[in-house]
Amino acid sequence: MANIVFKKSGVTAPWTGNEESILELGEIHDLDLDYGCRMGNCTACQQPILSGEVDYPNGHTGEPDEGNALLCCCQPKGDADLVIGA
Ligand code: FES
Repeated sequence: MANIVFKKSGVTAPWTGNEESILELGEIHDLDLDYGCRMGNCTACQQPILSGEVDYPNGHTGEPDEGNALLCCCQPKGDADLVIGA
């Protein structure tokens, strides 16, 4: 399973596969991350992806800026570690 590195926060958290999203994983580890709709629409939760890839198992309608991901609805793609700028 991938590790998720929240670089700015200095937290590395293992992805167990039981979390709905990277936003939820961050909240489990007490990170104060921005969000709005939590449904992939508003883009308030977007953060830069510094390394690795994400997947959107349920899709999204909001479009993050280039190089960013919507943390409320994304998951790590495969087992590679993911580094997020948050
Ligand atoms: S919180 Fe609205 S797109 Fe993630």
